[in-house]
Amino acid sequence: MNINIFTLTENTATRNFLAEWGLSILIEADNKRILLDTGAGFSAAYNAHLAGIDLRTIDLIVLSHGHFDHTGGLKDILARRNDAIDIIAHPSIWEAKYSIRENNKRYIGIPFMREQLEGLGAHFIFSDKPVWITENIVTSGEVPFVTGYEETDRALYKIENKNLVQDNFQDDLSLAIKTDKGLAVFLGCAHRGMINIIMHFQKITGDKRIYSVVGGTHLISASQERLNKTIDELKKIGIKKLGVSHCTGFEASARLSSEFKDSFFLNSSGSTHKLM
Ligand SMILES: [Fe+2]
Ligand SMILES: [Fe+2]
Repeated sequence: MNINIFTLTENTATRNFLAEWGLSILIEADNKRILLDTGAGFSAAYNAHLAGIDLRTIDLIVLSHGHFDHTGGLKDILARRNDAIDIIAHPSIWEAKYSIRENNKRYIGIPFMREQLEGLGAHFIFSDKPVWITENIVTSGEVPFVTGYEETDRALYKIENKNLVQDNFQDDLSLAIKTDKGLAVFLGCAHRGMINIIMHFQKITGDKRIYSVVGGTHLISASQERLNKTIDELKKIGIKKLGVSHCTGFEASARLSSEFKDSFFLNSSGSTHKLM
């Protein structure tokens, strides 16, 4: 199995690509071109154009959750494709989502109406269960909390029955690819915790070996204790490649880099990696 990735957008950039707070990774594997997330705005479509990537060649989009920084690029991408495309997501991506930090309440949900996106060719496939895209590529569906030390970010909320409640991220969805070296896991924001997600994929696929983890880890707000436990678990699993992005944050990224050395890489806008 060959897996190539190109990061369409991320918080940081290489060369002359644009960066923005968000994430979008194009994954080529198993004869499919899958776009995991779309970033916050126009940079994913802009960077694709800059890199000579024809967005019409993307077979499928997977949305990791309903935050603006993973879905806000959808409109530009769909408009440039001008064609129908399947989009896999959890049904609760449409919940109104907010962040409250330092008494500042901000809407951070999907910045479009569903009908608007469908008018541009979006064909949504909603599932809270794993969806097998090929016989080797699967989405996580809803991820159970099992580790005990991975909590959702307390500053993030959603509207439920007209009340503002802490977001428990039912919609948090990731992607894994089965290979002969183990699983290649791709994360959006990992709001339910990267180890919970990894363990869930081990269960879904029956493969305990984790070859790589790429994407947003949401360790930006993790305690030292959680970071230590996450690192211990990743070492125990024997991960071979760790490419972090977005909501990992500088401190956790620096720590992971020193712990995982040559296995570690920063995954920025314009980064290309041959994972295997
Ligand atoms: Fe998020
Ligand atoms: Fe995010």
